[in-house]
Amino acid sequence: MASRTASRALARAAIAGRSALATRALGAAPRLAARQMPAAAVAGFQQTRGIKTLKFGNTEEKVYERSDWPKAKLLEYFKNDTIAVLGYGPQGHGQGLNLRDNGLNVIVGVRKDGRSWKKALAEGWVPGKNLFSIEEAADKGNIVFNLLSDAAQRDLWSTVKPYLTPGKTLYFSHGFAITYKHQTHVEAPEGVDVVLCAPKGSGTTLRTLFLEGKGLNSSIAVFQDASGKAHERVVALGVAIGSGYLYETTFAKEVYSDLYGERGVLMGAINGLFRAQYDVLRAQGHSPSEAFNETVEEATQSLYPLIGAKGMDWMYANCSVTAQRGALDWHQRFYDASLPVFKDLYESVKNGTESQRSLDKNSQADYRESLEVELKEIRDSEIWRAGETVRSLRPENAKQ
Ligand SMILES: NC(=O)c1ccc[n+]([C@@H]2O[C@H](COP(=O)([O-])OP(=O)(O)OC[C@H]3O[C@@H](n4cnc5c(N)ncnc54)[C@H](OP(=O)(O)O)[C@@H]3O)[C@@H](O)[C@H]2O)c1
Repeated sequence: MASRTASRALARAAIAGRSALATRALGAAPRLAARQMPAAAVAGFQQTRGIKTLKFGNTEEKVYERSDWPKAKLLEYFKNDTIAVLGYGPQGHGQGLNLRDNGLNVIVGVRKDGRSWKKALAEGWVPGKNLFSIEEAADKGNIVFNLLSDAAQRDLWSTVKPYLTPGKTLYFSHGFAITYKHQTHVEAPEGVDVVLCAPKGSGTTLRTLFLEGKGLNSSIAVFQDASGKAHERVVALGVAIGSGYLYETTFAKEVYSDLYGERGVLMGAINGLFRAQYDVLRAQGHSPSEAFNETVEEATQSLYPLIGAKGMDWMYANCSVTAQRGALDWHQRFYDASLPVFKDLYESVKNGTESQRSLDKNSQADYRESLEVELKEIRDSEIWRAGETVRSLRPENAKQ
């Protein structure tokens, strides 16, 4: 017990930046006190403050924080680089604007007069100065961010590839194109660094948090290190786009966990659980208002933010004994029921079924229309119509 208390205190110390004590306790090589070091070593000590080995549960992981890359160092590091952001969807928008606001030399490449071109124009990118066609931007940039949609990364590979000459860096925010290369035909070009930095959330959130001085966590990976500097470069890029902390992955692990997570708890599973719980309540004669409040509203407005802020045990500890007992007694049954589904899902991601399906769907000329039919079905279902009414009744949304 005492040692657990101590290690928690040490983990807190590490997070608070008291790294010398914490690093020693967490098993890294002991460091000399800064004042005993020669000047150059002191500078080195300061520069590695943002790299930490921390315990996540019982597993040690190395993480990278932005404190290692203050703005002046980023500007110096990228002073001779042109970053070409291909695509201006949520990620191109968020990453491109954050890089621009960090003072780096950024250009955007999108198809002329498309939706993204118009959005880029509206957000201050200037044709011929920092807004170009995809080909022109890929040619001018020596660091090329491939932030086209995953299907467009496949479809436009033969257009982009000729510009990826030795010495350049090819950057992705998803392991998709490289991992499923048998489906996308995207191969790492010779002599080019191929790296990944994947923000764990939408580009719009990345932008909003950056403007608030916060950051989304991102994973980083190196697929091909032609220069011998690819890792350092992707850490610096991760900071430059406005990430919170950076953690290590591989291209394959990034895409497997990402496709799995969004089909699971992040988006797919949660919708299935909400619907099933709501439907049973309705079948038992509960009103839509009661069924929605007991299923979605209380979850999103009250309990899930607490899990985010303090953890599951804290949320259980700070509710009534009746609620606490029920949650503790029932969570195992939900775990047992869903585990086989999660195992099937992971396999379906790993064997390429899910990636092939999304590429096929994306290639259908009428995808947008058929998507709208599916979304309308959700929007028109009773649970989400009830949700619309419940949201309108929130005091902050009530009409004056
Ligand atoms: N969205 C997220 O939450 C998220 C999070 C992390 C990582 N990522 C990854 O980041 C990358 C970009 O994702 P995103 O969501 O920002 O992109 P997106 O909205 O799917 O698409 C981005 C761009 O692709 C362009 N595009 C699509 N088809 C094209 C074609 N045939 N020819 C030319 N341009 C085409 C679009 O241009 P037009 O407007 O002209 O059609 C748009 O600028 C992907 O690899 C994605 O997996 C996304």
